[in-house]
Amino acid sequence: MKNKYLIAYFSKTQNTEKIAKELGNLLDADFHEIKEKVEYKPEDINWTVEDCRANRENNDPQCRPDIQDEALSDNFDVLLLGFPLWWGEPPKVIRTFLEKNEDLLKSKKIVIFCTSQMTPIYQAQMNLRYGYPKLKFVSGARLSNYSPEQIKAWTKTFDR
Ligand SMILES: Cc1cc2nc3c(=O)[nH]c(=O)nc-3n(C[C@H](O)[C@H](O)[C@H](O)COP(=O)(O)O)c2cc1C
Repeated sequence: MKNKYLIAYFSKTQNTEKIAKELGNLLDADFHEIKEKVEYKPEDINWTVEDCRANRENNDPQCRPDIQDEALSDNFDVLLLGFPLWWGEPPKVIRTFLEKNEDLLKSKKIVIFCTSQMTPIYQAQMNLRYGYPKLKFVSGARLSNYSPEQIKAWTKTFDR
């Protein structure tokens, strides 16, 4: 039987959102945008400034920024979870999202995808697997600079 997909994504400068939309078209998926409660302003994500909010959050292992409380539907088998890499890691709101929804997600397959300027996905994927041993993260990908054909080919690795 065909998988039902939900694409949950966090994106501040639309790079990840663009990929999420392409995946949505290919997989006929539903969307769930993960949104922070206290909005990141441009200066909050100016990562060249050592003390910007995103960098401070990233350096604090306990930090779980609040996210907007939009209930997650249960009508999917596979979660595609998309985010930009912030210092090689998922932004902390992704951890907030996973922890809030852990019970529901325990029975699902999770495929992560990310965008970044150049950092590969491996460290982020390894740390998510290590941090959330009850969740099933199947192999993910960094989709920056992928052509629509390459994105389509990638979906075939799990859409069968
Ligand atoms: C706080 C912060 C940290 C970042 N750290 C990295 C990094 O370690 N490596 C990298 O290649 N890109 C890094 N980037 C760039 C983003 O990963 C990249 O621009 C991404 O595509 C943005 O996705 P979005 O438009 O969906 O928000 C960082 C960006 C921000 C805001």
